Amino acid sequence: MTLTNNFPSCLRSLLLSLVLAAAPVRAYAAEAVVPDWAIPMGHFYTQTNGSGGASDLGFAVVDDEAARFLTEFRQFGGLPALGYPVSQRFQHGGLTAQAFQKGILLWDDVAQSAHLMNLFDELARSGADSFLETHRFIPPSEPWHEDTGQPWHVVVANHLALLDDYPEIARAYFAERQHGRDPIVHNGLPMGLRDYGSVVVMRAQRRAFQLWKVETPWAGAGEVVVVNGGDLAKELNLVPTAAQEPTAAPVPPFEIGDAEQGNILFRDTGCMLCHGLKAEGGIGPALAEDTVEFGAFLAAVRRPDGTMPAYGADIITDQGIRDILAYVQSLGQDDEP
Ligand code: HEC
Repeated sequence: MTLTNNFPSCLRSLLLSLVLAAAPVRAYAAEAVVPDWAIPMGHFYTQTNGSGGASDLGFAVVDDEAARFLTEFRQFGGLPALGYPVSQRFQHGGLTAQAFQKGILLWDDVAQSAHLMNLFDELARSGADSFLETHRFIPPSEPWHEDTGQPWHVVVANHLALLDDYPEIARAYFAERQHGRDPIVHNGLPMGLRDYGSVVVMRAQRRAFQLWKVETPWAGAGEVVVVNGGDLAKELNLVPTAAQEPTAAPVPPFEIGDAEQGNILFRDTGCMLCHGLKAEGGIGPALAEDTVEFGAFLAAVRRPDGTMPAYGADIITDQGIRDILAYVQSLGQDDEP
């Protein structure tokens, strides 16, 4: 069954409640619905929907004909580097764009890859500099007259010199190298730097870095934090308001698995060798009782933490694991009086 974007939400929640009803209540009581989950060709995130976990609306990151944002999101370092998505796709200067907490990806149709928007340059163009400095401690860019007529390597050297007195910021700026990524491509050129007393802020074209000199709830003294520039872009309407609204997921967090198919897979991929034909347990633990949450089940199969062999997507798909979970759950039901 394919559930599309247009799938009526009443039916969706009905399906969801059916799935939930099929699972032992005990396990769900402790753990709320998963905050993010796999969807066809992508992944769906509710973490940034602004509801603090109270709604299942969110933002999908997908690969499709228009753009491969899921692939590029991972390429750019995924969650640790870009944070969660904070917008739907939108059009920006003729390109397809999507905002994440720490940057905005722009899809380049010709290169068939994405790059990060020079979002602080764009915010400057939209007249946001004084707001940024007064309310968000983001310094304006230097005028950079010395760049005029210079070759690129001189321009780069001019801008990198901003980091000379701040080794902690330089380390954070160049950290991308450890992951094989070009810091200039990732952050843009350093453009401005200012010491605000408790925090020193360096503004690059694509990202801004804060060096905290005092202990704060979000950073220790001496720690460098990358500013959530994507959130600033949202606040300052560089992201169109319509695209800022979270939407319903194309498939619910617990897509209904096919228990019959799951039974076959459970046999054929060898799960039953260790877990028993009816998942009653053997070398591995019994599964029927307490493994009901798809995210945890998926993780246990993809990244087991003991002697169980890991099953990659080349051996069994996410949907296959859903099917096995449905089979395991159907066993749990049979056992009930
Ligand atoms: C070679 C034996 C073996 C095979 C094959 C195997 N498992 Fe396991 N499994 C284990 C063991 C042992 C554990 C306990 C954790 C560990 O040691 O990794 C486990 C743990 C699990 C858990 C976590 C259970 C819990 O409650 O903590 C799940 C879920 C699971 N297996 C599912 C599967 C599925 C699905 C398959 C087939 C795709 C499979 N296993 C194949 C041995 C196996």
